[in-house]
Amino acid sequence: MERPNETHSKESEWQTSPFGPFYCVFRWDLSRFDYPGPKQSEDLRVKFASENEIGSSAEVWYEGLSNEEGSPWANYLKRWTPASAAKWFLDSKKRLGAKMLVAEEQEVIVGINGIISETNSGKGRFFTGIVVSPKYRRRGIGSLLLHQTLSDLNKEGLRCAEVETIQGIPAAKYLYPKYGGKGIQVPV
Ligand SMILES: CC(C)(COP(=O)(O)OP(=O)(O)OC[C@H]1O[C@@H](n2cnc3c(N)ncnc32)[C@H](O)[C@@H]1OP(=O)(O)O)[C@@H](O)C(=O)NCCC(=O)NCCS
Repeated sequence: MERPNETHSKESEWQTSPFGPFYCVFRWDLSRFDYPGPKQSEDLRVKFASENEIGSSAEVWYEGLSNEEGSPWANYLKRWTPASAAKWFLDSKKRLGAKMLVAEEQEVIVGINGIISETNSGKGRFFTGIVVSPKYRRRGIGSLLLHQTLSDLNKEGLRCAEVETIQGIPAAKYLYPKYGGKGIQVPV
């Protein structure tokens, strides 16, 4: 997925785009990021994945996107398998210095967020989006990954964070508006 040209963006409005009718972007202004972290269960650990955990991260990504109410990612996923996603993640790490933040419970990866820090533009991009395994949802794992990501990007000195998503899905309705996230209109 490409990032849109944001020259004419106006916050909190939605329009269709060449990428699809429901495409949208959330952005966090990191200069305003000052939110306490959510409560974290003792069993849960957030860390960066090692290279040999990229395969499991890709499986969480694929399974998590496949299992969302209304199947909003069905078309997008036609181009992917867990194996091709793992290649994408490894390639992004090699070429762009991408990192894979993961939530782990009892040594099982249950949530992910792939992050690219663009120092030139001052942006942190969630290139995979935040994805939590279906059985582990509604327990604060998505919020924990989001807060940790924003906190890390802020410490890196970046000015904003962004994710591309689909209007109206649970991530856009409930997760990404947290910690100052604003939905941005995609120019047509
Ligand atoms: C979106 C997603 C990551 C949220 O993960 P999660 O671990 O369930 O998120 P949390 O438990 O931290 O929930 C965050 C908030 O959203 C609410 N929420 C999450 N899913 C919800 C749903 N389906 N319906 C209503 N509220 C929901 C939670 O109650 C919580 O509210 P609070 O902040 O007031 O306490 C998860 O649903 C998912 O993986 N979806 C499929 C993948 C996807 O589409 N990702 C976006 C890619 S761009």
